Amino acid sequence: MTRLMHIVGARPNFMKVAPVMRAGRAHAGLEQVLVHTGQHYDPAMSDSFFNDLQLPPPDVNLGVGSGTHAQQTARIILDFEPVLDQYKPDWLVVYGDVNSTIATALVASKKGVKVAHVEAGLRSRDRSMPEEINRLLTDQLADLLLTPSRDGDANLLAEGIPQERIRFVGNVMVDTLLHLRGKARELGMPARHGVEGMPYAVCTFHRPSNVDRPEPLREILGALDDLAGRMPVVFPIHPRTRQRIAEFGLQDLARRVTLLDPLGYLETVGLVERSTLVLTDSGGLQEETTVLGVPCLTARPNTERPVTVTEGTNRLVASRRSEIDAAVAEVLAAIESGAYAPRQPEGWDGRAGERVIAALAG
Ligand code: UD1
Repeated sequence: MTRLMHIVGARPNFMKVAPVMRAGRAHAGLEQVLVHTGQHYDPAMSDSFFNDLQLPPPDVNLGVGSGTHAQQTARIILDFEPVLDQYKPDWLVVYGDVNSTIATALVASKKGVKVAHVEAGLRSRDRSMPEEINRLLTDQLADLLLTPSRDGDANLLAEGIPQERIRFVGNVMVDTLLHLRGKARELGMPARHGVEGMPYAVCTFHRPSNVDRPEPLREILGALDDLAGRMPVVFPIHPRTRQRIAEFGLQDLARRVTLLDPLGYLETVGLVERSTLVLTDSGGLQEETTVLGVPCLTARPNTERPVTVTEGTNRLVASRRSEIDAAVAEVLAAIESGAYAPRQPEGWDGRAGERVIAALAG
């Protein structure tokens, strides 16, 4: 019996673990343990994803909550050690690039527990992003690096990681998207939000570089206000962004935008699938819009997901009102030409979870 311990902590982890655990359940000889660090704890940021994705309740929830990066990472490290001692897994399986990923990988690697990293090798080359630090360090620690796209393999090789530790498996998030897309459509999200049959935009912003200082947040909200003059703009808002808008006194700029509480997974996919365009700084939405064929403007100077630009619908844009306005105008003009057909980069085929399990189960 091989025991896998899967680690989740924050919203973008949940859709990545779901297809891997599903494939693991279908494989005889595997035992699976799910640990939630509790980095995200609001029902809308956590519980609703467990329901939508039909994830089993976690075997352990560390309940670490929010804090500075040091506080949060340190709490996870301290609280996770006895859990690892208790369950003694053969593999620790970590996902993506959040603080829970690096914190638990560090504990396991020092205790001689093998670490597998799902979504290895992505690089923005921007060390001001906390996620980039988490990606670099987790990949140095991991024994098995499971990459979602070929650029991941190339990045790891360039950092001196031996080929034997690298396995291209494709994108597990896409497994979830393809699996649940029909169910998401059944929710009738556009009708629920009064935008059925009309052009509308969906946006999400939560990166510290965009929302933790007033200037970029003001620029982005200004652009959303401009767009709201042309079509409805629906903005499911991360708790951190809502706090910042209030703190910086920017509520007036968001007046014409429809602000919603954070949406669940199915609700988000149901809304994005029928939208005219997406404006975001999320990692996952860059990938989901590529698969759904929805044009995406990403307000960041770089991306760790370059295939969404070279092979998909994504385009990077500065967090400046005038630049976002100009990019929106170009996207709206280009839609007519059919430039935004759905794309499936290599390995984004709905079978990545099975390939992760095949790599772990031997
Ligand atoms: C984390 C990830 C980020 C990911 C994002 C998705 C890291 C370094 N960052 O960022 O990569 O894109 O999750 O959402 O791990 N808060 C709540 N309720 C919650 C969770 C957070 O109110 O359930 C608020 C708190 O004020 C908290 C703030 O949001 O301080 C930030 O939360 P945190 O977990 O530190 O990082 P995220 O910005 O969510």
